[in-house]
Amino acid sequence: MLILGIETSCDETAAAVVRDGVETLSSVVATQDKLHIPYGGVVPEIACRAHLLTMLPVLHRAVEEAKLRPEDLEAVAVVNAPGLVGSLLIGVTAAKTFAWLRGLPLVGVNHLHAHIYAAALDRRATVFPCVSLVASGGHTSLFHSRSPIEHELLGATRDDAAGEAFDKAASLLGLSYPGGPAIDRAARAGNRKAVRFPRARLDPDALDFSFSGVKTAVLYHCRGQDGRTPRPMTERETSDVAAAFQEAVVEALTDRVMAAVERTGAERVAVGGGVAANSRLREELQNVTRRRGVELLLPPMKFCIDNGAMVAGLGWHLLKAGRTSDLWLDACPTAKGRA
Ligand code: KG4
Ligand code: ZN
Repeated sequence: MLILGIETSCDETAAAVVRDGVETLSSVVATQDKLHIPYGGVVPEIACRAHLLTMLPVLHRAVEEAKLRPEDLEAVAVVNAPGLVGSLLIGVTAAKTFAWLRGLPLVGVNHLHAHIYAAALDRRATVFPCVSLVASGGHTSLFHSRSPIEHELLGATRDDAAGEAFDKAASLLGLSYPGGPAIDRAARAGNRKAVRFPRARLDPDALDFSFSGVKTAVLYHCRGQDGRTPRPMTERETSDVAAAFQEAVVEALTDRVMAAVERTGAERVAVGGGVAANSRLREELQNVTRRRGVELLLPPMKFCIDNGAMVAGLGWHLLKAGRTSDLWLDACPTAKGRA
C-alpha cells in the first residue's frame, strides 16, 4: 500500500511516500533554518507562513521523486499533534484536502510516535518491543514501546527539552542556529572534562529529565553570575564548554535509557528525534547498550530530523489497526497525557 506522509509540526515542511510501512520511495524536506537564524530560534508565525508557501511544492516533489502519479496514492497520514499549532494546521489542512479530493483514508499521527518509528524504516529488522527515547527541540520523552502503535510513557522532561538546551547553550556560545549540530561540531575539538556542569538529581525512581540546570550553568559560565557580563572566550574554550555541556546532556539521556531497560527488561533500544543525530550521543549509546547486551536501533541521520517518511510508515500500521481519522481531525499543540 502506498501512503503519503505529511509533517509540518515545527519548522520543516516534509512529505514522503512509503510502501507498506517500510520502503521509502521518496522523502522531501524543506527546512526553514535560514528564516529563523536571525531570531536564534523558531518563530511560530514565520514557520506557519513558510509552510503555507512550501507545502504544495514539497507534496508535488514527493510524488514525483517516488515516480508516481497522485492517483497512485492509497492513503494520507499526517502529524496532527503535538507541535506548533499554526504549523500543524497547514499540514493537516493539506492532508484533509488531498484525502477528500481523492476519496482516500486519512490517518492522524502523533509526532513523537513517528520519531520512534523512524528506526523501523527501510529495514526489516525487528524494532518492537523496545525502550524508546525521543529527544528533539520540543520534547524529551522515554517510552516502553510494545508495538509501533502502543507506547507507555515512562518519563519526560520536567522543564526544557534536550534539543532546546542545545539551542540555548549554542546561542550563549555565539554558535549558529540550530545549535545542536553547531555544538556537535565545536565539541569535536574540545575537552569534555574541561568543565564539570551539574547533572540534575531527580527522584532516583523517576525516569524524568531536567535540563534547565545545565543550561543556567552554561549561562553563568559564559556571562558571569549576573548572567549579563559576557566573558570573552577563545575558540579552544568555546569547544571545551561545548564538549562539557554535550557530555552532561548525553550522560543524562543514556543514564535514563539504561534505567528504563533495567525496569522493563527490554532487549532493544530505539532512539529518534533531532538530538539522535548527535555524534557523541550515538557513540555513548553504542557503548552502554553493547555492555548491557541489548540491541540499539538508530535511524540514519536523514530520518532523525523531522521527515514525512516516519509519518507515512507509522500511518500504515495505524491504518491496519483501523485507527483512521475523519475530516474533523484537529491540529493539537499537546499530545494526550504527558509526553
Ligand atoms: O526532531 P527535530 O528535527 O524537530 C523537533 O521536533 O523539534 O529536532 C530539532 C532539534 C533542534 O533542537 C536541534 O538543535 C537538535 O534537534 N539537533 C541536534 C543535532 N542535530 C539536531 N542536537 C544535538 N546534536 C545534533 N547533531
Ligand atoms: Zn521532531
